[in-house]
Amino acid sequence: MSEATAVEMLEAEHRVIQKMVAGMSVLADQLEGGEPVDVSLLESIVVFLRTFADRLHHGKEESFLFPALIRRGVPSQGCPIGGLTMEHQKGRVMVGELADAIRGYAAGEPPARENLVKSLRVLVAFYPNHIWKEDYLLFPLAGKVLTPEDQQDLMDKFETVERELGLDVHEGFDKVAADLERKVSGIVSSPKEE
Ligand SMILES: [Fe+2]
Ligand SMILES: [Fe+2]
Repeated sequence: MSEATAVEMLEAEHRVIQKMVAGMSVLADQLEGGEPVDVSLLESIVVFLRTFADRLHHGKEESFLFPALIRRGVPSQGCPIGGLTMEHQKGRVMVGELADAIRGYAAGEPPARENLVKSLRVLVAFYPNHIWKEDYLLFPLAGKVLTPEDQQDLMDKFETVERELGLDVHEGFDKVAADLERKVSGIVSSPKEE
């Protein structure tokens, strides 16, 4: 069995982000339906998005994958690298807005529920679109232009990022996403009546 490449590792991280996003979508439905949602659960989403999705995953892409592609002749501006970098920046703003909306919700401000639903929906629309562009456009391109040595070099750098964020970052955040999935699936499958 050959080991996963650096690009395959990024692809696997997309699956964890998608799991979280699916849970966020159900939470938005619950909030819209007037049901109470645990503030600490909402806060754990922000921590996940900031740490796993942004610092770890987007960090690997921006600090190492994109520069490696640029060294192999992919343009640094425009499609795809310029566009994806801009989307990462927009994502950070959206997550900040979600954190604000959660604070408002926790404080019981009147329009807070609506703001929170809106913030969740914006992110639920954003991530799958961004991930699609990487899975189907960027990563196949990376598979073509990067040499096996480039992939190994990236893997070494990715391991450094993981060490900096804590060795259990992967296992820990896989669990956060799985926990949310379990909690919301419990809500969804619970009987409607009574
Ligand atoms: Fe990305
Ligand atoms: Fe990505």
